[in-house]
Amino acid sequence: MTNDAPVLPSVDPFAPEALADPTGYLRQIRATAPVSWMPAMRANLLVRHADVAAALKDNRLATANLTQGLDQLSEDEQAELRPVRESMERWMGHTNTEDHLRFQHLLKRYFTPSMVNGLRPRVREFTHELLDAAAPAGRMDVVPDLAYPLPANIIAEMLGMPIGDRELLRAWSRDILALFQVADVDRMRAAQRSVLEMQDYLRPLLEDRRQHPREDLLTVFASAERDGIVNEEEIVANCVLLLFAGHETTASLIASGVHLLMANPDQFALLKSQPDLTPSAVEEMMRCDGPAGVISRVSLEPVTLAGHEFPAGRHLYLAISAANRDPEVFDQPDRFDITRKPNRHMGFGIGVFYCLGAALARTEADECFRILLTRCPDIRPAGPAGRIMVPPFNDHLESLPVEF
Ligand code: HEM
Repeated sequence: MTNDAPVLPSVDPFAPEALADPTGYLRQIRATAPVSWMPAMRANLLVRHADVAAALKDNRLATANLTQGLDQLSEDEQAELRPVRESMERWMGHTNTEDHLRFQHLLKRYFTPSMVNGLRPRVREFTHELLDAAAPAGRMDVVPDLAYPLPANIIAEMLGMPIGDRELLRAWSRDILALFQVADVDRMRAAQRSVLEMQDYLRPLLEDRRQHPREDLLTVFASAERDGIVNEEEIVANCVLLLFAGHETTASLIASGVHLLMANPDQFALLKSQPDLTPSAVEEMMRCDGPAGVISRVSLEPVTLAGHEFPAGRHLYLAISAANRDPEVFDQPDRFDITRKPNRHMGFGIGVFYCLGAALARTEADECFRILLTRCPDIRPAGPAGRIMVPPFNDHLESLPVEF
């Protein structure tokens, strides 16, 4: 612990009240302790909109080391998990600035408005297919039956994976989740197995695109490889990152969006009567219950934020979910209001690491909700929703049974 840490209020993200009601817990911290210290994470916590925004824009803060979980393991375990560490060290955003910009530049060639728009018909088709499958029963669990398979199908489409192989993505993605959580060594081993399997799965597909270019992301990578911009190891590692970044998050947005609508019948009715409010409703879903609750950073040099001086090497957690309900910025912040304007939420981050897939995620959610509300206008809960907490302060829906 560094010298200034003890003078700050202490916050415990594992406290029963934080696990039971993260929104309420963070509301109280935001009102009383804009900067706090989390002994369990050996890190500071920022919660106010202005402070979180300033931190996200500050290039003296780097994305925190994702391999911290691996660092805690024994020497033998670390040696065993060396391959997954090497893969993660190639993930864009976790490399040095030069490599990060090189990758951003390359991916922006692919993530264009026309590519995103071009995927719209496929998003519609997949949404209809998933609802067709659920229709005879008149019930489904939104999480496995709609929220997960929709973005999985889209990523598979982007990567050019054959239809029959798409189930694989779900299993890989579930295992890879452990790398972003406080997880035990067995889950880390499973994550490594899945990362390596996915990378090996992608190699022949990449080889195919070298010979036979198509309109997909692997072809963009293959052509950049030919120009000497990236190598095969970077490509397969970053495809794993994209699978995860675009899959778990978008699934979470769709599930929490359905949950919010069912919990707010007035807003649900308004959206049904005015479907053109769907983009604005999606922004409000992102604000009220966005998938990225907390983002972590580490200071590269001493930095003053929120009136507090942090030494170099300090870990900071930026509570996006708390900032997105800051009454200094949002009127009636705890109200779900699909007409809210402006809506300056930070659910896709801001600054140099701003989400590359934001337009894609918005498009997927937009199409999905338009179709869902047309086909299932009476959708309602068919049992309790299952939520799991992932400290610090991240939670997401594991199941959401509905009937319609
Ligand atoms: C609702 C869905 C999504 C949410 C909430 C979300 C959230 C975020 C956030 C908060 C960041 C910034 C992380 C930071 O500052 O450290 C980010 C970055 C990123 N996201 Fe997303 N994301 C979503 C969907 C997607 C999709 C669909 C893709 C691609 C298929 C994607 C790809 C990326 C990538 C590659 C980055 C890293 C950008 C960089 O380092 O320059 N995301 N995302």
